[in-house]
Amino acid sequence: MTNIVKGTKDILPAEAALWQTMESAALKVFGRYGYGEIRTPILEHTELFARGVGETTDIVNKEMYTFEKSGRSLTLRPEGTAGVVRSFIENGMHRLSPPVKLWYKGPMFRYERPQAGRLRQFHQVGAEVFGIEGPAADAEVILLAVDYLNALGLPDLEVELNTLGCSACREDYKNNIRGVLKSELKDLCPDCQSRYDKNPLRILDCKNLQCNAILAGFLNQPMNPICDECGAHFDEVKKLLDAQNVKYNLNNTLVRGLDYYNRTVFEIKFGLFGSQNAVCGGGRYDGLVKTLGGPDTPAVGWAMGMERLASLLELIEPEKTDAYIVCDDTSAAFTLASQLRTAGITTETDLSGKKIQKQLEKAAKTARYAIFPGGKQAGVKNLATGEQVSIANEDLISYFQNN
Ligand code: HAM
Repeated sequence: MTNIVKGTKDILPAEAALWQTMESAALKVFGRYGYGEIRTPILEHTELFARGVGETTDIVNKEMYTFEKSGRSLTLRPEGTAGVVRSFIENGMHRLSPPVKLWYKGPMFRYERPQAGRLRQFHQVGAEVFGIEGPAADAEVILLAVDYLNALGLPDLEVELNTLGCSACREDYKNNIRGVLKSELKDLCPDCQSRYDKNPLRILDCKNLQCNAILAGFLNQPMNPICDECGAHFDEVKKLLDAQNVKYNLNNTLVRGLDYYNRTVFEIKFGLFGSQNAVCGGGRYDGLVKTLGGPDTPAVGWAMGMERLASLLELIEPEKTDAYIVCDDTSAAFTLASQLRTAGITTETDLSGKKIQKQLEKAAKTARYAIFPGGKQAGVKNLATGEQVSIANEDLISYFQNN
């Protein structure tokens, strides 16, 4: 037998229900904010990610699934933003009246060491807004992420927020990191030793435990100088989030693992995943459209890991069916179930001839009410309170519509 590829995962029917929940909530919430769905190919030219995500990132350096075909280097997309930007440019969307709001979902591929919450084929749902320079767009995409998580029944989230400033601020930031870490350079991992010159911001994102320990000693030092304009932008983002009661923690070491960001960056975390605890990551990337050959176009967005979302949803009690028909007459149960379902009442019934006691046990786990059909009346038991009433058959539907 051939086994499943390491770091990939089958989604079986019991779990697929959670994926349908994530997808239908996405349609609903993104629709409310005026987003249109975009579906881009999984395969892109390798250079798109090398130029877009950045040559010094782990993603491009170590994690891409890349292969040659007819002399062209192709890559399975490791993230969604670069492909969306390519499509935005190629399809002339920069000529549309801004903001242009796009959302997507689908599989992404990164050759990482698999562990809980980290796969080699995983899925993201993401949102990108093009054409708005002002801080309201940053605040709106963060609010969108929070609304989406709330719509899924996930309220206990932590938003971490930082600003990377503009390219001038970032040069100062990099020099400060170099200054602070100069004496520690020999103890950093080989990757970070080469990051020190090329892109020291990446050191803040290193997964090596010894590098993390060294950095921990410097976390309280202000290393991130921000110019007045970037400071005002960030202040306004915070003000807009405050006005919407979005709670956030400021984290000046949050730099994100991709090179295209400027100004606002954020992640949303839940305690569940240990070190792999970010369910959402995003930020502003005003330079990317131009880097990839389009006109200067500000942009901001985020993506969420759907496997990580599914693990959170698994912890929430599944919604119960309205009614479970407990009955040893399969044909009567079948007819009543069909009438109730036609009236929009979610109904389960046993079609396998299980003993009444077994049916009741199943009903207690999965339904709000048990129905015991009996001639012209049916017994209806509230499975939470144990209270039972007798309802005439012709009143059953209205009983459920009111309860
Ligand atoms: P990212 O932080 O690399 O950002 O990924 C976003 C989310 O995808 C993470 O927070 C995590 O939930 C999930 N994720 C990433 N890698 C894995 C993995 N190996 N296994 C399971 N889940 C994973 C981006 O990809 C950016 N494109 C986000 C963005 C959109 N920024 C602006 N617009």
